[in-house]
Amino acid sequence: MTTALRQTSDAAAWTGPAPVASIEQYLGRNVHLLPQTNQLRALHTVVRDREASRRDFVFHAGRIIRLLTEAALDLLPFEPYDVRTPVGSTYRGLRFADGLLAVPIVRAGESMESELRAVIPGIRIGKILIQRDKTTKRPHLYYQALPDDIADRHVLLLDPMLATGGTAVAAIELLLELGVPEENIVFVNFITVPEGITAVCERFPDVRIVTSAIEERLNENAYMVPGIGDFGDRYFGTDR
Ligand code: PRP
Ligand code: URA
Repeated sequence: MTTALRQTSDAAAWTGPAPVASIEQYLGRNVHLLPQTNQLRALHTVVRDREASRRDFVFHAGRIIRLLTEAALDLLPFEPYDVRTPVGSTYRGLRFADGLLAVPIVRAGESMESELRAVIPGIRIGKILIQRDKTTKRPHLYYQALPDDIADRHVLLLDPMLATGGTAVAAIELLLELGVPEENIVFVNFITVPEGITAVCERFPDVRIVTSAIEERLNENAYMVPGIGDFGDRYFGTDR
């Protein structure tokens, strides 16, 4: 199923940082934050450094994305699967239930594809193209290419940035319109802020988010602080 979509830029422009209620209620239930180990902080230290080379940024972001991928896969359904071991005994194991689909939000979400493919080489991958308007900060939804049986699948929605939440909300609305149950959506995210978590969790209480960092706040340009800058530009090399 490949369709050029409506643009969703009619919504009012983002008006700047606003106070957000505590996100405590969402932690552990809707939001799965990776353990904040020293190793993870060291990886984040490289990618947060404005002086990091693109090579270092891509490499260390990739390591964090691998951790996120493994954590997200743990939230998917498994089914019993027994195997015979080399000593002739039975190991009562598990395997992924069928019907997984990854959906990166183009462009930055595509940075998460390779780590996922490294873990599940044959995974199906759909696409949604959404871009934030540079001025209004609101998402434009341009294009989607998704399988016809998406309603029967568990979806890993991939986007490293959850800031105002506009992009994620637009993407999740599209998935719901296509029949994907909320509880079948796991949003795999690199960094977020309370505003983004609230935007998604208030509206979609059964969607789960896996993330590696929760930032302090948004600045007046809708970038996260302390943040990482423009992830897509840094990852793909379109920054200055
Ligand atoms: C970035 C990012 C998210 C979005 C998050 O995309 O990749 O998709 O912003 O912001 P929001 O939560 O305020 O909507 P951008 O539109 O900059 O495009 P890119 O993927 O090309 O970097
Ligand atoms: N998109 C980014 O790339 N970075 C932010 O901080 C917010 C949105």
